[in-house]
Amino acid sequence: MVNEKLLKQAREIVKNMSLEEKIGQLVQYGKLKERQWDLVKKGQIGSFLNVSGAKNINELQREILNSDCKIPLIIGDDVIHGYKTIFPIPLALSCSFDLELIEETCAISSEEASSEGINMIFAPMIDIARDPRWGRVAEGAGEDPYLGSEIAKARVRGYQRNNWNDRPFVTACAKHYIAYGAAEGGRDYNGADVSERTIREVYLPPFKAAIEEGCGSIMCSFNDLNGEPLSGNEYMLRKVLRDELNFKGVVVSDWESVEELIDHGFAEDKKEAAYKGIKAGVDIDMNSGTYEENLYNLVKEGLVDEALIDEAAERIIALKLALNLFNISEIDEKLSEKVIRNKKYIDVALEAARKSIVLLKNDGILPLSKNIKSIALIGPLVDDKVNPLGCWACKGDPKNVVTVLEGIKSKLSEDVVINYSKGCEILEEIDGGIEEAKKVAEDSEVVVMVLGEAGNMSGENNNRAYLDIPKPQKRLLEEILKVNKRVVLVLMNGRPLTLEWEDKNLPAIVEAWHLGEQSGNAIADILFGDFNPSGKLTITFPRCVGQIPIYYNHKNTGRPTFKKYLDVEETPLYPFGYGLSYTKFEYFDLELSKEEIKLGEKIIAKAKIKNVGDREGEEIVQFYIRDISASITRPVKELKGFKKISLKPGEVKEVEFEIGEKELALLDKDYNFVVEPGTFKICIGPNSVEGLEKELKVVK
Ligand code: NOJ
Repeated sequence: MVNEKLLKQAREIVKNMSLEEKIGQLVQYGKLKERQWDLVKKGQIGSFLNVSGAKNINELQREILNSDCKIPLIIGDDVIHGYKTIFPIPLALSCSFDLELIEETCAISSEEASSEGINMIFAPMIDIARDPRWGRVAEGAGEDPYLGSEIAKARVRGYQRNNWNDRPFVTACAKHYIAYGAAEGGRDYNGADVSERTIREVYLPPFKAAIEEGCGSIMCSFNDLNGEPLSGNEYMLRKVLRDELNFKGVVVSDWESVEELIDHGFAEDKKEAAYKGIKAGVDIDMNSGTYEENLYNLVKEGLVDEALIDEAAERIIALKLALNLFNISEIDEKLSEKVIRNKKYIDVALEAARKSIVLLKNDGILPLSKNIKSIALIGPLVDDKVNPLGCWACKGDPKNVVTVLEGIKSKLSEDVVINYSKGCEILEEIDGGIEEAKKVAEDSEVVVMVLGEAGNMSGENNNRAYLDIPKPQKRLLEEILKVNKRVVLVLMNGRPLTLEWEDKNLPAIVEAWHLGEQSGNAIADILFGDFNPSGKLTITFPRCVGQIPIYYNHKNTGRPTFKKYLDVEETPLYPFGYGLSYTKFEYFDLELSKEEIKLGEKIIAKAKIKNVGDREGEEIVQFYIRDISASITRPVKELKGFKKISLKPGEVKEVEFEIGEKELALLDKDYNFVVEPGTFKICIGPNSVEGLEKELKVVK
């Protein structure tokens, strides 16, 4: 989005600005108090967040254009999975493996947000996350760098589609750079001690992808990385992000993270924090006031070179030029009425919700027949309009949420008796709740229990040490099972849960995540077979918390057959890539166009997939590679491609994947991307543990 031409133009603008005005560009506030208004009037502020409504934003833009400085404002907001039309949380939607759909949800979010004056969206969150205790797993695309990169690109494309001329464009702000997801113990904000190799192999690829897609801004993360918090980390921000990845856009700090360098023990006071922030290359200081209070003196005292301020201001102004803000900064205050929650967007929200659902277990009880006589709906999330919105629901209105009770009611004829009982709250028992619910369960042909987490049990700083279904709900489930064995468990949650007991004892488990406003309709469609489940997990479900970290693309040990734990199997409960359908797919005839190739050559791997069940269904075909021996040890499997196909009963399709340098290369000892001769295992299958395998030899 920001390019040399715009930077050159920005340079001319910056030349005519005072030092105070230039510093102002680097200042962002999330409040609108008298002090901030003063800055606006003096033209000494560059951006805001947390300001909403076209009217308020117009007022600010008008005021700044009346100042001497006349540089329009960037207005940021956290539009994580929808602005007013709320889609599934990003972790859920990643399970669709549907890049076009993901892109579309972001384009809609951007369209809605921009119609009310937002021009910087603090998303996508592209942190690779391998620890489900960390609440922010909900905001990303799971554990895999390849899938994470594809989704990062799709989201940036969507947010920055900008196919309008009646308002400013939108920039995405990919976050949180970097290794934020590696927080020790899954505790948000915690330091991450990560090797250079793991940073480059695991955490960096989605950022590289977002930059290649033209992402206009990047947010640096709160965490300490190997002793240097990101808001003052010169190596990661200047050497890696600017020099290596050639990022030309704007780096925004996280909320007050420049000032937080003090608490990290990385700066003595705000002055030193400002010094370290600007030296490291943080262009915008979000809300801490650290730059506003200190940069002027730092320059005047000769401690900070004014060229650093100029460079940051130029990037910010170049971004403003890219956003077309100099031509149009005000919004038609009626525009949002035409744009927001248009019927087509709600249809996309339903499609997204259906495709995010992952069927974890089914002994045949699902899909349910619509001709049943009675059904019990039990649990605190059955008729809940708030929690299905999930964390970071932006301006989503609970009134628009379709609950499971509503979704099921609208699907079944009036002859079916629907017995509803809440049973307990999400985290507390209700007096007499279990008894009432048991009665309801006893009297019904089948029971659907909707249990899980509140929306605010994941997201920022909402970490958990236990990953069970919260106690009162677990108790409710155990009690219901005593009176009726035909229990379908529907889970709403923002992270993997530990479900070993549930997996052993229940006939069916549906992972529905926090699906956004169309939750109830999507879940009803799945339960009654109007939509065949097709989602696959993008993050591993452990058996117990003690297995964490557990992810599919781990390295081997020298003793791979040795037992890893005395007290639990070493395998996950549900692996990466796993998910069931109401039909069955058979994989056969894996073929490589050549089984031996020379360095630099490309081949095709193909396999056939047949729908051997009796329903049409979609399958996410996954392609993995293992480099068996190399100069650097490689993971036991790495996803390198996937394709989503739809098959009618009995239909066969052939799926192809190209294998070349991109798929075979590794980062060598000097971090160069190279293909080494040797043997590779090629695998095409339905998830990360099953599938067809063939060997490929690469020779010099
Ligand atoms: C802190 C969060 O870490 C970040 O993701 C968010 O964009 C900012 N606050 C602004 O709300």
